[in-house]
Amino acid sequence: ADPDPLQDFCVADMKATPPVSGFPCKPADMVAAADFISDALLRPGNTDNVFKSAVTQGNAVTFPGLNTLGIALNRVDFAVAGLNPPHSHPRATEAGFVLEGKFLIGFVTSNNTLFSNVVHPGQMFVFPRGLVHFQRNIGKGKGLILTAFNSQNAGVDIIPTTLFASNPPIPDFVLSQTFQINDKLVEEIRGGLANA
Ligand code: GLV
Ligand code: MN
Repeated sequence: ADPDPLQDFCVADMKATPPVSGFPCKPADMVAAADFISDALLRPGNTDNVFKSAVTQGNAVTFPGLNTLGIALNRVDFAVAGLNPPHSHPRATEAGFVLEGKFLIGFVTSNNTLFSNVVHPGQMFVFPRGLVHFQRNIGKGKGLILTAFNSQNAGVDIIPTTLFASNPPIPDFVLSQTFQINDKLVEEIRGGLANA
């Protein structure tokens, strides 16, 4: 979904400011082999949180060699019963590969149809660009999924935190009317997501 590059590579100069759309290139004579590998996904993310999951991003920000190349990779770690909550990527389609665990996954189309599957290690899946999707570990042990994006920086809108933990907050009366609930319940939901 990103524009085509106009050169072989454009390793991001992360010290240059300001990034407008992507990052400016490091001078070519400063580029070395090590710019094209990354340890960004080396370690499992910390799943000790309300959702019991952790997304670790290998995008143009964490791996500057990806700048202008139109792809990125995440690892998503799950504890038992971990959930990657409903979210969407404004700038990319997502393809995934299950390495460990058993998952209930799904996405909802723009006309409100849910397409849901159970996937096992070795299986791939795809979530079309911009559509809301989730992954829930329903296996007995921990889980690990690798996800790929056709953008160097797919972006992410996480539905629960976008709505209930924005900064500054969306006013209670907007959320209570949206979900047809009272303000007390809005506050209760905010409380539950305080550390999300
Ligand atoms: C998984 O859905 C991810 O966005 O990495
Ligand atoms: Mn995703």
